[in-house]
Amino acid sequence: MTSSPLQPPLPRPTPGPAAADKARFWDRVARKYAADPIADQAGYEATLQRVAGLLSPQQSVLEIGCGTGSTALRLAGGVQQMLATDVSTAMITIAREKLAAQPLPQLRFEVADAEAPAAGGARHDTVLAFNLLHLVTDLDAALATIVAALKPGGRLVSKTPCLAEMHPIVPRVLVPLMRAIGKAPAVLVFDAAQLQASLVRHCLAIEAVERHGTRRKDIRVFIVARKPG
Ligand SMILES: C[S@@+](CC[C@H](N)C(=O)[O-])C[C@H]1O[C@@H](n2cnc3c(N)ncnc32)[C@H](O)[C@@H]1O
Repeated sequence: MTSSPLQPPLPRPTPGPAAADKARFWDRVARKYAADPIADQAGYEATLQRVAGLLSPQQSVLEIGCGTGSTALRLAGGVQQMLATDVSTAMITIAREKLAAQPLPQLRFEVADAEAPAAGGARHDTVLAFNLLHLVTDLDAALATIVAALKPGGRLVSKTPCLAEMHPIVPRVLVPLMRAIGKAPAVLVFDAAQLQASLVRHCLAIEAVERHGTRRKDIRVFIVARKPG
């Protein structure tokens, strides 16, 4: 897309010091994250297939917390344009390397904090957030940004670990211990009902609540929620 002198490019929010703090853990682990195998490949494929069915070639899609871009690279071919963002510069560097190896003209990767006010207004048909909403500092701020980025009638599609559904020793003892030694990021602990209640508070109508895991217990709830049209 080109910009004319009459239409300057939209201002982009630049990550401030808070965003740099959020990025620190992910910048450090990005190369390892990229190399690690997907824990439940069949569950991931089921999610991709489900999400692909919600997208169409007319759509503008925003993915937040895109990590190294694997999901965006799988889905962008089916939409008009996709902007995939992450607070971590290291993650976006890897995503751009992958995009250079597998060019997709409709896909762009940018560094952005999912909790910062969205630039560009309500211009996306779908916002994707995979393995992200339990990692933001302020869930309400992130949801406000998502709603602001969605067109009326647009959808949020999220898959999020619900740590409150694990044995309490995990969020109360193991995660804090791992955080203390730099092996885990800060997390929000909620269950699927609490997450749905947060979405509803932001006026999103829940359309689907699913689990796609192929293992015995899947704590990652998949939710489709629509902004009023
Ligand atoms: C567990 S990884 C998930 C990556 C990818 N969505 C996936 O499913 O593989 C979490 C990602 O969220 C990003 N992240 C964490 N907090 C964020 C924030 N406030 N804004 C944007 N991205 C964030 C991290 O940098 C990391 O890349």
